[in-house]
Amino acid sequence: MINFELNGKPMSADVADDTPLLWVIREHANLTGTKFGCGIGMCGACTVHIAGRATRSCITPVSLVAGASITTIEGLAPAAQPHPLQKAWVECQVPQCGYCQSGQIMQAAAMLKDIAQPSDADIDGVMQGSLCRCMAYVRIRKAIKIAAAEMAGTTAPQPEAGKHV
Ligand code: FES
Ligand code: FES
Repeated sequence: MINFELNGKPMSADVADDTPLLWVIREHANLTGTKFGCGIGMCGACTVHIAGRATRSCITPVSLVAGASITTIEGLAPAAQPHPLQKAWVECQVPQCGYCQSGQIMQAAAMLKDIAQPSDADIDGVMQGSLCRCMAYVRIRKAIKIAAAEMAGTTAPQPEAGKHV
């Protein structure tokens, strides 16, 4: 039995130690916002926070998170009080098919804890492992900047020279 905290609540999973955390989240906790994309840590669709750090849950054996605090997209913020990223995502109409978007938001949320006002280069560097087959990258960058500005109590900066938003 593996015990950990999931979105602020105790979670127990009676599974093999090497079961991917992603399966426990989706199949045992029935939280399906976190997606399976590649299964090999290369696309970012399965990104969750472990102790606040963005982590690929598809390649994380559940035994490694015993006693840890996990946050999924469902636990990022209360529904009535969305995270600034979630609001900016809506404002910018970021998703196309939507499949990658939970992972994108979780990756971005972790980044904003470390880099409060990310530049285009910061965003591109941190987000480069979060793939979007619908090519929403420009809208993702714009939404991150809007969210960062809201969190800082300012307005989003204009696009950097040569960048289209
Ligand atoms: S499904 Fe985990 S990185 Fe692609
Ligand atoms: S919105 Fe379709 S894969 Fe990103």
